[in-house]
Amino acid sequence: MAEAAAFLRMRGVDGPFALALVTGTGLGPLADRVEDPVAVAYGEIPHFPASGVSGHAGRLVAGRLGGKPVLLFQGRAHAYEHGDAAVMRVPVGVVAALGGPPLLLTNAAGSLLAEAGPGRLALITDHINLSGMNPLIGEPSDARFVPMVDAYDPGLRAALKDAAGLSSVPLHEGVYAWFSGPSFETPAEIRMAKTLGADLVGMSTVPEVILARFFGLRVAALSLVTNYGAGFAAGAPHHDETKRVAADAADDVGRLVTALLSGDFLRST
Ligand code: HPA
Repeated sequence: MAEAAAFLRMRGVDGPFALALVTGTGLGPLADRVEDPVAVAYGEIPHFPASGVSGHAGRLVAGRLGGKPVLLFQGRAHAYEHGDAAVMRVPVGVVAALGGPPLLLTNAAGSLLAEAGPGRLALITDHINLSGMNPLIGEPSDARFVPMVDAYDPGLRAALKDAAGLSSVPLHEGVYAWFSGPSFETPAEIRMAKTLGADLVGMSTVPEVILARFFGLRVAALSLVTNYGAGFAAGAPHHDETKRVAADAADDVGRLVTALLSGDFLRST
């Protein structure tokens, strides 16, 4: 972590940042909106995990968005790629080491909400970890007992809702269930998730939220709905559909995040 942060400082990437962002499947084009970008490939950064998923670029971009300094992770590594729920420990730790700005995670997700179909955005209010994994397993310190009440920061959520209103981007809300993937869920698993109280399903984000809270970062997360959960509507989810729908809706995410940064929303949280 310290080594990665020192390397990034040497490359001119240093805080304070107004916001750190992780872009999920198809949302990488947000990086194109960053002004005066300094980009560093993940492969160059000590101890950074590689992401081999198509639709994920794998570089860190520092620059300005909505007039504010941001640190954008273009692509993430997933537990299902590495068999390790802690695969994002160094990237999340680096956010803390470079000044600890609020962290906004984005992902592509399946929806269990009839009113939030493909192309819609949803703010994650809470999560259900159905993966059986946790990124803090093996962490020796008592800091591993991380409280998870209001893990999705209420102030950041309010700021995101205000920014959505200002930018006229419809924003749904819901509980996100983490399935390990990489296979999509079965219809029976989707019915179970719905019964348990989930509104969204996906294969990322939850371990990063746990790590963010471990490192003391304020964190929020946005899902871009790319499909309905398996069996919820005709057809089955496909990765190609996920990438295409996410790319189409990336513009909404860009407007929302730019509005979040250009207003005083973050300051007032
Ligand atoms: N399930 C899990 N992850 C996903 C989905 C889904 O339906 N869509 C996009 N990511």
